Amino acid sequence: MRVLEVDHPLVAHKLTVLRDRNTPSPVFRQLTEELVTLLAYEATREVRTEPVEIETPVTRTVGTAFTKPTPLVVPILRAGLGMLEGMTKLVPTAEVGFLGMARNEETLEAITYAERLPADLTGRQVFVLDPMLATGGTLREAVKFLFARGASDVTCICLLAAPEGLQALQSELAEANVTIVVASIDERLNEKAYIVPGLGDAGDRLYGVAG
Ligand code: URA
Repeated sequence: MRVLEVDHPLVAHKLTVLRDRNTPSPVFRQLTEELVTLLAYEATREVRTEPVEIETPVTRTVGTAFTKPTPLVVPILRAGLGMLEGMTKLVPTAEVGFLGMARNEETLEAITYAERLPADLTGRQVFVLDPMLATGGTLREAVKFLFARGASDVTCICLLAAPEGLQALQSELAEANVTIVVASIDERLNEKAYIVPGLGDAGDRLYGVAG
């Protein structure tokens, strides 16, 4: 498992506005989209490509195309949905699958409540979108699920990660072909497993509190 914390002034600036409790939902959604596009640029560095012959107005030349099957993007519902637009802007030909996961707020265990993914992911490169890597439970289950279907490698794009969650993932996925791309590794988790300093509940900040 590899971890990449993206160090860029644009990322740091957008993240600062996201963290601010006074930032309203519409601005929060817009900034999340922009931030994900910046993270996606780094996260797609190893995307598989092949040479392709094309004709410019001037001559024939060899360019670059994604190999088939194209990458699969998997937002984790609900908060990962707020990251989808930022990712597909950069990789419009990617296929999109969905994984609905929630954590039991008492046991903090991740449960899968919905799934819409190809049955066979053999050889597929998968990009998972989940804004908050807190305890790591949700991502661990998602990554295991994707490898069980045959994915060749999984890249998780997150806004924030807690050191405790990264440590937990590392101890289970050390040898796995997994990359975590994150805008910031924060200080710690609090007693309710929220990331500190964090940005609060990402789903609520994106979509408001739905009962
Ligand atoms: N999920 C969130 O939305 N925020 C956190 O701080 C931790 C998990």
